[in-house]
Amino acid sequence: MDSSTIKARKSVRTFNDRPIPDELMAKLEDFTKHDTNPFGVPITFKFLDRKRDGVSSPVIVGANTYVAAKYHRQEDAELGFGYSFERFVLLATSLGLGTVWLAATIDRKAFERALGVGADEVMPAVTPLGYAADKRSVCETLMRKNMRSDERAPFESLFFRGDFDHPLGEGEAGGLLEPLQTVRWSPSATNKQPWRLVLDGEKVHFYEHKTKGYARESTGDIQKVDMGIAACHFQIAVQDAGFEGTFVKSDPGIAAPEATDYVTTFVISN
Ligand SMILES: Cc1cc2nc3c(=O)[nH]c(=O)nc-3n(C[C@H](O)[C@H](O)[C@H](O)COP(=O)(O)O)c2cc1C
Repeated sequence: MDSSTIKARKSVRTFNDRPIPDELMAKLEDFTKHDTNPFGVPITFKFLDRKRDGVSSPVIVGANTYVAAKYHRQEDAELGFGYSFERFVLLATSLGLGTVWLAATIDRKAFERALGVGADEVMPAVTPLGYAADKRSVCETLMRKNMRSDERAPFESLFFRGDFDHPLGEGEAGGLLEPLQTVRWSPSATNKQPWRLVLDGEKVHFYEHKTKGYARESTGDIQKVDMGIAACHFQIAVQDAGFEGTFVKSDPGIAAPEATDYVTTFVISN
């Protein structure tokens, strides 16, 4: 898993009928047993079969396998979920398989039943797993167009220097340009891109810019899951760029715009 896998990933909603080879399934299943995240949130994965488990999504064509996952409610659980589930998505991508994060357009009750979600647990999202068809369905093509899935917000509207009054241009990002681009190209729920990052010396502060109406009981704070995905991309790309570092929770108290909450800080140690 590296930055090239992150760049290669795109959501896949239309699959062909080629089965997933057993050795790939074994690799993926093994990964889910050991997948960890820097936020210390245990994630339980389960592989599901469309027919056997009665799970489906109205936007997916041709997939027979799904992967669902859940967490126990705890602080920053969404962050850990986003990080861990995205690592799984990237592994699948590196093995040539297609995936798409699905939080809303699923038969949620059927997935929760098949996964076995307890009263104190949350299943934010699932993904189908399989080989991408040569041609996208009409539904998928329209969805991508409506959500502008091939586009992202301008770099300087997402990243800042010192505080939120100073937008960061691509030319000012130095060695962090590539890690920031991998954050920018992260997948997010309805492509809302809630991540805002402030560069502050050797620290990079992550903020969540909340879209109205997104926090829901069944999915938890889905945009905080998006933040976990961004954290995953950032850490992989930072390591690729030759830096090391860790996530810590240490709010710098920078004045943030409306509906923008501090989430975590990545501290670069070399
Ligand atoms: C947390 C999360 C939830 C998502 N939920 C759905 C969903 O319910 N249905 C769907 O079709 N796509 C869903 N998506 C996929 C996004 O629409 C997609 O990532 C975005 O449009 C960007 O496109 P890309 O992944 O091809 O870069 C979700 C993505 C994330 C990260």
